[in-house]
Amino acid sequence: MTTPRTGDAATALTLADIARQAEPRLNPAVWDFIEGGAGDERTLAANRAAFDRIWLRPRVLTGSGVPRVGTTVLGRAWAAPFGIAPLAYHTLAHPDGELATVRAAGAAGIPVAVSTFAGRTFEEVAEAATAPVWLQVYCFLDRAITENLVRRAERAGFEALVLTVDTPHLGRRARDARNGFTLPPHVRPANLPSLDDISPAEHARARFDPALDWSVIDWLRSTSSLAVLVKGILTAADALRAVEAGVDGIVVSNHGGRQLDGVPPTLDVLPEIVTAVAGRCPVLLDGGIRRGTDVLVALALGADAVLVGRPVLHGLAIGGQDGVAQVLDTLRAELADAMSLAGVAAVDRAGPDLVTAAGPRL
Ligand code: FNR
Repeated sequence: MTTPRTGDAATALTLADIARQAEPRLNPAVWDFIEGGAGDERTLAANRAAFDRIWLRPRVLTGSGVPRVGTTVLGRAWAAPFGIAPLAYHTLAHPDGELATVRAAGAAGIPVAVSTFAGRTFEEVAEAATAPVWLQVYCFLDRAITENLVRRAERAGFEALVLTVDTPHLGRRARDARNGFTLPPHVRPANLPSLDDISPAEHARARFDPALDWSVIDWLRSTSSLAVLVKGILTAADALRAVEAGVDGIVVSNHGGRQLDGVPPTLDVLPEIVTAVAGRCPVLLDGGIRRGTDVLVALALGADAVLVGRPVLHGLAIGGQDGVAQVLDTLRAELADAMSLAGVAAVDRAGPDLVTAAGPRL
């Protein structure tokens, strides 16, 4: 169900419109922290450009009718094949922070991965949630800190852990360095009250375990009974290693171009990972999803679902919960439109035949 919009929001028809409206509402250094990437931002740009190189091959007269956009991931129904990627500090974009996000996601029937660096406590987030919430885990040098976060999240009702594996330390992000970016006083890691550093880069430098290996999966499993996904896989070899380690899901991700610049766009590596995993666990993708057609292309190339990052913070900036709802409604409506026009009756019907690389098919 789409909520009627008023004011600014009524003129925002696309996620790009919402981003344009968000920018002037945010402090420029906060905008840069959200938008920016590592290095020359090549990977950041490539995530988007990868979708622009793919064309859809619609089928006509399929008799498919109104498309079914819902799906099931890890045994839970999702109203659409997308969830919300873990993003630090939603409170940078709106004072309600993650509470607004999980309320909007709950109304839309889609899950949220809540960052270790959430601006609101896991307990209040779980209380506000009506759809699945997952905990994104950064593994700290002091494992007791991580273990405590996991136990709290499990007790509060979180349903899965998403271990981010592409961040032994934070990538070099020139925008933040130039801006001397630090957290504004009202933004703090609500679940890590003992952390008094005010720069996200400092958090990572001082606290993350930079020497994790695959044994961390077993360790993480020993801390709770929750499903464990790994986020930040970019090669078939690591996908296989993850499957061997017994993960419950893989998120193909380059952290939205914020970690190692120069890695390929996630869409380009998706097919090799899907082939390697061969259905043994769900494969999700994030990076550059801005249109319903992007979701459809990722599904066609084998993703079970996708995660959306920055647009959620844009939505928060323009209207808190309503703004996030607008992002999610827009994406869902665009996906339903694209599926209907392409003759795709249901999410699990989107396959490789639906897409082709740009340029004539010879
Ligand atoms: C992130 N991302 C991220 N990932 C993670 O595992 N833990 C985190 O705390 C954060 N924090 C974070 C903050 C901000 C401001 C951004 C933009 C991103 C990465 C995120 O989960 C995801 O991989 C990308 O954002 C996906 O790309 P798009 O949709 O933003 O293009």
